[in-house]
Amino acid sequence: MSTDLRIACVMVGLPARGKTYIAQKVCRYLTWLGIKTESFSVANYRRKLVGSGQPASFFDIHNSTGLKQRREAATAALEAMLSWFDREKGTVAIFDATNSTKETRAWLNEQLTRNNIQPLFIESICEVEDMIGANMLDVQTHSPDYKNMDPIKASKDYETRIKNYVGSYETITEDNYSYVKLVNSGSQYIINLVQDYLESRIVYYLINLQTRPKRIWFSRHGESQFNIQDRIGGDAELSERGRQYAKELPDLVARNIGDRPLVVWTSTLKRTIQTAAGLPYPKKQWKALDELDTGVCDGMTYDEIAEKYPEDYARRDEDKFNYRYRGGESYRDVVLRLEPVIMELEQHENILIIAHQATIRCMYAFFMNISHEKLPYARIPLHTIIELKTNAYSCEEKQYKVGVEAVDTYRPKPSVPLIKKLKEQGEAVRRNEGASGEIADASEPILPLSPVLPANKKPSVSRIQKSAPIKPDLMSA
Ligand code: SIN
Repeated sequence: MSTDLRIACVMVGLPARGKTYIAQKVCRYLTWLGIKTESFSVANYRRKLVGSGQPASFFDIHNSTGLKQRREAATAALEAMLSWFDREKGTVAIFDATNSTKETRAWLNEQLTRNNIQPLFIESICEVEDMIGANMLDVQTHSPDYKNMDPIKASKDYETRIKNYVGSYETITEDNYSYVKLVNSGSQYIINLVQDYLESRIVYYLINLQTRPKRIWFSRHGESQFNIQDRIGGDAELSERGRQYAKELPDLVARNIGDRPLVVWTSTLKRTIQTAAGLPYPKKQWKALDELDTGVCDGMTYDEIAEKYPEDYARRDEDKFNYRYRGGESYRDVVLRLEPVIMELEQHENILIIAHQATIRCMYAFFMNISHEKLPYARIPLHTIIELKTNAYSCEEKQYKVGVEAVDTYRPKPSVPLIKKLKEQGEAVRRNEGASGEIADASEPILPLSPVLPANKKPSVSRIQKSAPIKPDLMSA
């Protein structure tokens, strides 16, 4: 019997209540943190089984054929999920479906617990017509069920489909289950029997999550004196061209923002603060946005690192996400320290973040769903603003290049890693043993959950009936 922690987040709610959006966001968040997570959509299995374009009558509970085929689809999705847990050694799965009756939930609860998987039910309740309307439009536009269908016909069909669920829908009242109810996208939360560290963490993320569309702008600081010298780390001033970028930034931002309220976040390092200096918006400095700490290599050029610490240099190329500079950080460490920033970002609509190559890469990867392997190679050029517009089903990106030249600090992944070359040459290149960095253990526990809920996000009804002590040892990042 496996003793590994396994959780299934079981979505609950009528159609058009943002369940798929929530499911995908949770999946992305946990994956970004390094927790093996996968989402299983019953609708996808239903389409595989009976094809897309089933009319609303298919979802009528009096349609016995429809009912039977929907059960088959749910069973197929569940089986796929159970085998994923075993095959992939997964930690969190998300079972995305309406699961709108007590009977269905009891069946899932029984199947999951029998397979040593903790169910965490996540119910999305929405009674605000505007929000339901926006969700319906999203589904009609993006769901394969309505592809190529006349929009008016699609809208009518979807309305009827929802009505077919309303009659049999039972909100969760099973107080022996772990669950969280999200009411009207953040106006109320009901939390019941949340059991351990990872479940608490998921719930904490859900409490911060807003389903409204948002815009985030990222910019690296203007070119710095260290950039020109090809040096990493440090706390250098801007170069002449960097100062020019800072001068041009306010106009460019104003043209794109219009009269929307904007907040600017910077790191605590001089180059980002100087870049933001001319921006007439409220500002906040975050230590968490500071550049990746390069430890003993701080202030050196890559050539100097290659010369002085060749093994470090090579090992970093071998696994850039996990490589931790001696006395410094890895990309993995940076992801973890950026988690509070991501939590706060989820709550805001218009934010401009002026930070650094590595920290922007980590945040950009979160929104663009980039794997850990590719994250350290994302292109984040100097003197460019990256705009991300996120909504329920997509994240659109635009880049605005400012007409001020800057050095290119991008280093592509070498086709043959240097460490391999060194090994082939049989060279034990250890000119400075003490300075060798490490490939951080990918199973390190992730940081403890902040116990403080955001001030405007305290659950208005909280029924946490049992709260086991935090067990970070159960987590495997
Ligand atoms: C679907 O087939 O679209 C999902 C079925 C359900 O969750 O009720």
